[in-house]
Amino acid sequence: MGFAKAARMRFAAVAMLLLASLALAADGDAARGRKLAYTCMGCHGIENYKNAYPKYSVPRLGGQGAAYIVAALAEYQAGARSHPTMRGQATTLSAQDRADVAAFFQGPQRAAPGARPVGALPAAAAACTACHGQDGVGTLPGNPTLAGQHADYLAQALNDYRLGKRQNPVMGSFAAQLTRDDINALAGYFAKQPGLSTPRL
Ligand code: HEC
Ligand code: HEC
Repeated sequence: MGFAKAARMRFAAVAMLLLASLALAADGDAARGRKLAYTCMGCHGIENYKNAYPKYSVPRLGGQGAAYIVAALAEYQAGARSHPTMRGQATTLSAQDRADVAAFFQGPQRAAPGARPVGALPAAAAACTACHGQDGVGTLPGNPTLAGQHADYLAQALNDYRLGKRQNPVMGSFAAQLTRDDINALAGYFAKQPGLSTPRL
């Protein structure tokens, strides 16, 4: 595929995501979300809790953008993300429930960036910063914040996009270009930045 065509496809995909995240930006009720989040906290509320087979850390949701959380839950529900437990969890939630739990997990504001990035930006990150920031904070609410996320989870997610276990047109094409070393360097760098936290009820 030619570069111009790939760039046009990427542009179209980004435009679609922007529209989708605007449509999803309806305000959630964080107080109601706190009650709904009770079952979620059995995994997401425990620092360093691990997924089994394969073993990797359960993602941090505290300070993550609400628009992104809503989109991620919709993707588990639709099967675009194949994780069986999260599919099961997501199918129990209505659109209003998703907006409410997302408002609770994000909190009053998305995670704030650090004063300056920690450590040297890996070369491969040049392709990522327009959307995820040099500091790892999503440049738009629909772009996930990677700062402070567990490194092993970030690496798992990138491999899943690469292998098509997570279907996302934008991330699929970016992840396809990464080597194993790139993935480890990027995951390590973004995990070191101040940002996301383990939520508390
Ligand atoms: C049994 C443990 C468990 C429970 C309970 C659970 N989750 Fe998860 N959650 C996970 C794991 C593991 C992942 C990572 C899945 C993957 O690799 O895609 C995840 C991923 C997510 C993500 C995607 C995060 C990201 O950065 O993309 C969101 C959002 C989420 N969970 C929300 C919830 C909500 C809301 C609930 C409650 C309704 C819930 N989870 C209940 C284990 C759990
Ligand atoms: C055009 C904007 C854009 C670019 C460039 C981009 N991303 Fe993403 N990224 C996104 C969006 C949007 C998502 C959410 C996709 C979804 O819903 O699964 C995402 C998801 C991710 C996730 C999963 C986060 C989570 O919490 O599960 C990781 C990790 C990630 N990107 C890393 C990268 C890396 C590393 C690069 C550079 C090689 C990159 N991204 C380039 C927009 C982008």
